[in-house]
Amino acid sequence: MADVFVARSLDEVRFWSRIMKEHSLFLKLGFRCDDIQLIQEANQFYAIFESIENRANSYTAGTDPQTIRTFNEDTYVAVSHIWAFKRKVLGLILTCQLPGANNFPLLVDHVSREANYFRNRLAELNTGRLEPLPDAIIDENVFFLRIMADHAKFISHLLDPSERKLVQQANEFSHDFDQLLFQAKDLESMRPQSQTAPLLDQFLDQNRFSVKSLRDFKKTAHELIEACRIKSIIHPLLADHVFREAERFLFLIDMFENSLTGKPVPAAHELIMD
Ligand SMILES: [Fe+2]
Ligand SMILES: [Fe+2]
Repeated sequence: MADVFVARSLDEVRFWSRIMKEHSLFLKLGFRCDDIQLIQEANQFYAIFESIENRANSYTAGTDPQTIRTFNEDTYVAVSHIWAFKRKVLGLILTCQLPGANNFPLLVDHVSREANYFRNRLAELNTGRLEPLPDAIIDENVFFLRIMADHAKFISHLLDPSERKLVQQANEFSHDFDQLLFQAKDLESMRPQSQTAPLLDQFLDQNRFSVKSLRDFKKTAHELIEACRIKSIIHPLLADHVFREAERFLFLIDMFENSLTGKPVPAAHELIMD
């Protein structure tokens, strides 16, 4: 009998350790070639998260829960460190100590928010303290809608300005997700009264619709960038990275929907077996 704690942990760590590894690469690419120290630090984080990722892939649903508990703790420490690194870089940019570097402040803040999210997930897993479903639905959506809104802004700003149609599309997504985020914040401040099943269900439906279309836009952008058909300074891996984060959000929306409507929720271990 597979342990749910083990399966959930492995699913979370496999997804987010790869994300953290890629953040290290993106940050490195945005540093100036003279920023040797920062580049080195980024390389170290890349290696750390690559080894965490490998470790997560070497465990299975049948691994001893105590081993996974320790693994989660180790990962928690590494994530805390990369979070601090990201905030340090943000501080350097905002005090104009990295003139000419190519990481947007919002991007650095964004990747630090993702690290913080991962760290919270690890703490929740290890303490076994999960938020009640209606709170989780609102909080996760507030978090991910902002992430999606940011992605649209990054795409818009990293496309070549001559790609007018695509820039316009990205800006429309940015606006759409800003609106959805405000709606989510409204639902948040109206709680607990707002936490009725019909309202939460409609909230999830509306978000799912927009996330699907953004996800498809990212997929197309990724393909166009890979095939060198559009002008941009977007690394193909960044396009794929934001696509995967949209997929993650969709997976959560469906999971919430199923829990809300009482449909059987696919066990995490079934999802990580493939
Ligand atoms: Fe990310
Ligand atoms: Fe992101």
